[in-house]
This record gives sequence, C-alpha cells and structure tokens, in this order.
Amino acid sequence: MKSLVCSSYGSPSDLKIIDSPIPIVKSDEVLIKVHSAALNFPDTLTIKGLDQYGLTLPFVPGREVSGTVEYAGKNVLLFKKGDDVMAHMITGALREFTSVQVENVFAMPKNMSFNEAAAFTVAYGTAYHALINRASVSAGKSVAILGASGGVGVAALQLAKAFDCKTIACVGSDEKADFCQTQGADFTINYEKEDLKLRLKKTSSDGIDVICDMVGGKHSENSFRSLSWEGKLLVIGFASGSIAKLPLNLPLLKGADIIGVFWSTFSTKHPKIARDNMNALTELYTQGRLKPSIHKTFQFTEAHKAFSELSERRVKGKVIIKFT
Ligand SMILES: NC(=O)c1ccc[n+]([C@@H]2O[C@H](COP(=O)([O-])OP(=O)(O)OC[C@H]3O[C@@H](n4cnc5c(N)ncnc54)[C@H](OP(=O)(O)O)[C@@H]3O)[C@@H](O)[C@H]2O)c1
Repeated sequence: MKSLVCSSYGSPSDLKIIDSPIPIVKSDEVLIKVHSAALNFPDTLTIKGLDQYGLTLPFVPGREVSGTVEYAGKNVLLFKKGDDVMAHMITGALREFTSVQVENVFAMPKNMSFNEAAAFTVAYGTAYHALINRASVSAGKSVAILGASGGVGVAALQLAKAFDCKTIACVGSDEKADFCQTQGADFTINYEKEDLKLRLKKTSSDGIDVICDMVGGKHSENSFRSLSWEGKLLVIGFASGSIAKLPLNLPLLKGADIIGVFWSTFSTKHPKIARDNMNALTELYTQGRLKPSIHKTFQFTEAHKAFSELSERRVKGKVIIKFT
C-alpha cells in the first residue's frame, strides 16, 4: 500500500509517498481502508518536529480518517468488515490502510459523505468537549470563538448556535468574517483591524460568558478582559504560535475560570463519555444542525499541497485528502 511519510522534519514538500506493508492489527484494533483523511493544525506542527507527543522519525502524519472496515481484531465487538466508519488517532492517517484502537472508531451516520466524516471527529469532538463537558454552555449564553473560521472554530460556531447561544466569530480577515456568517455567527470581529476587547464588549454589555481560544497570543488577554462576571476562558490552542501569559488579577476581579481543554487525552481517559459525545454529535448532524464545511479536496498524490494550504492560514473549514 502507499503511505505518506515524514522521514525528516521540514516543510510539506519534504513529505514522500512510499510503498509500505499493510499494518498488523492488534486484538483491540480495526483495520480501515481509508477513503478520505482530513488535516488538523497539529499535523502542520508534527512534520516540523514541533508536536507535543515527541514523535520519532519516520512516521505517517494525519490524525483522522473515514473509510470502510477491512478487518476487526478478535476483541472488537462494535464493528465488522464492510462497516463505514470515521476514526481519529495521533498519527498514521495518511495511508491507504490504517489501524486504529476501537475506542477511537465511530459509525458514520447514514446520510454523511466520506469527506464530511473524515472532517468530523477531531473538530467536533474537541468543540463539544470544550463547550459542553468543560464549560457547560446553555441557551442564551454569549460565546466568542477565536479562530472561528478554522476546523475547530467552525465546529464550535455551529455547536454554540445549535445550543441557542449568542455566537461571536473572531477572525483575521473580512473574507473569513463573511464565511463565518454562513456558519452561524451572530456577530463577527476582524481582530487584525478591530479592537477585540472593545468590540467584544459592544456585542454583550454584561460581558462575554465563554471564550473558545484556539489562537492564543495577544488575543487571549484582550478577549479575557471582555469576559462577564464568572465568565470562562477555554484554552484550546495556540495557532498564532504564541502562548499568552495572563495577569492573575484578571480572573480574580471577574470571578472567572481559565479552563484547559485537551480532547485526545480526555478521550483516552474517558472513552465512554467520548463515545456518548460522538453519539450526541452524530444525532445533531442527522438533525441537520451540524455540517462540516469542506474548504478544498486534494488527491492523495497532492497531499503536501493540503499541508501548505493549512499552515499558510488560507483554509476556511477543513481540507480533505482523498484516496479513491
Ligand atoms: N486542545 C485540544 O484538544 C485541541 C484539539 C484540536 C486542535 N487544537 C488546537 O486548536 C487550534 C486550532 O486547530 P484547527 O485544526 O482548527 O486549526 P485551523 O483550522 O488551522 O484554524 C486555526 C485558526 O487560527 C487562526 N490563526 C491565527 N494565527 C495563525 C497563524 N499564525 N497560523 C495559522 N493560523 C492562525 C486562523 O484564523 P485567522 O486567520 O482568522 O486568524 C485559523 O483559521 C490549534 O492550535 C490546534 O493545535 C486543540
């Protein structure tokens, strides 16, 4: 089978497609014939050697796929050969067949395409864990989303809207702001040219209830200063490349919470809740309240172009790599 391999840290053009053996499946794993894979921001870091898992070279990048079960390990009861599934992992998505721990494999809803399914687990799983498990959002709350046109951003926007929250999409260009209006934003703010703190305060006079922060840098503190009494900052990512340092008088003055969100570790530690979450998400998809937004689809032979698109901040929604 063909695999995309990172054998030295560098740029997307250093990735190579090679022939490799089909993975050997452990008793609690599923072998998936991959139809589509989606990229996530952390994939752009892994190929530069900047990931948090300390991956050893060589490795196959990519952390989510959709496809068809080719073989189920002997302890796997949930799936059988021929089932259409979506799945996530830390690495190993970008190959024709991939083996995945059964805890991280989910049935595809009947009306979902393979491209949508490839784009579903990581972004929506993270957004749901953040908004529901960690922040317990409810109808009427104001939710500001930094990096709202990205993968996790669009998922958070659609989910907050599905829970009848007031949604404020914060992005880096007017084009992305327009896009977010099509994804459920009640308000949009371009943080590259507007004062984020003032504009956030204007949208909600009592302050913002929940901030989903995928970007970090100066935007973390600027948005935190717009929080309501007992507001919540969800720390999800640092796509700007800069980890903010907050003065600790700010959470004291607002009685506010700073809440860490780490979905992959949560999924490993709480697989039952993670599966319940995915069931709730597929139900919302089936009701038409969630819809993965596909920015562009690349053939497997052009996978390196998808990495460039994402790392150069050009993507609205998700980029897909197709194998068939
Ligand atoms: N904690 C968790 O469990 C978890 C899970 C998944 C992802 N994450 C993290 O969440 C963040 C978003 O992931 P994603 O897959 O949604 O990424 P994405 O699709 O690339 O979206 C990231 C967004 O960040 C903004 N951004 C600001 N400065 C940027 C820069 N210098 N380079 C690239 N983007 C920049 C971009 O929007 P603008 O151009 O509008 O600013 C972009 O849309 C990442 O930091 C990722 O590591 C965390």
